[in-house]
Amino acid sequence: MEIAGQITLLLHFIGMGLFVAIQVAGMVVGKQYKKAQNLQEKATLLKVMRPIGLLSPIAVLLMIISGVGNMHTFQITLADFGWLQLKIVVFAIAAIIGIFIGIISKKRGMLVGMMLQGKAPADAEKTLRKYDGQVALFTMITPILLLVILCLSVYGRLGGQ
Ligand code: HEM
Repeated sequence: MEIAGQITLLLHFIGMGLFVAIQVAGMVVGKQYKKAQNLQEKATLLKVMRPIGLLSPIAVLLMIISGVGNMHTFQITLADFGWLQLKIVVFAIAAIIGIFIGIISKKRGMLVGMMLQGKAPADAEKTLRKYDGQVALFTMITPILLLVILCLSVYGRLGGQ
């Protein structure tokens, strides 16, 4: 295999590791957030979560670039394999869910900030609960999708080709 091919495979693995790390870190901090007793604690944990979340568009880009690199290395096109088509569809769904999580998290951070300053709208508590529920639901789905992507990749590698 050419050196460029080895590099794209390595980047693909690094990107996968980054995804797993983001998931695990997000879950650990998310659990702490759930347990937080007051707004100040919540705001601090949301600040901790922010850079973790911001890593995910970088990981998405890395996966797309290195994935296309892998396709080039292995001389395959999208039309060749069902597992690859399915993998890309699941990946796209996961990426869209990731964008949703990002948007809701941003709104949630702003809301908690306003609540801390006493400038929150009247139904702030209810809105915060809604955001918390949405983020919790979406962050439960993404590890499942990641696992499906991983299974499809292993299947492809082991002879689905
Ligand atoms: C979270 C997203 C992804 C994960 C976790 C993931 C994971 C993996 C893994 C574990 C492999 C096996 C590496 C090996 O062959 O040694 C692989 C291979 C590959 N991936 Fe991905 N991948 C992801 C996204 C993508 C995307 C978006 C594309 C396409 C644009 C892609 C295209 C490929 C290709 C072409 C291979 C080589 C398959 C072969 O061995 O014939 N991947 N991926």
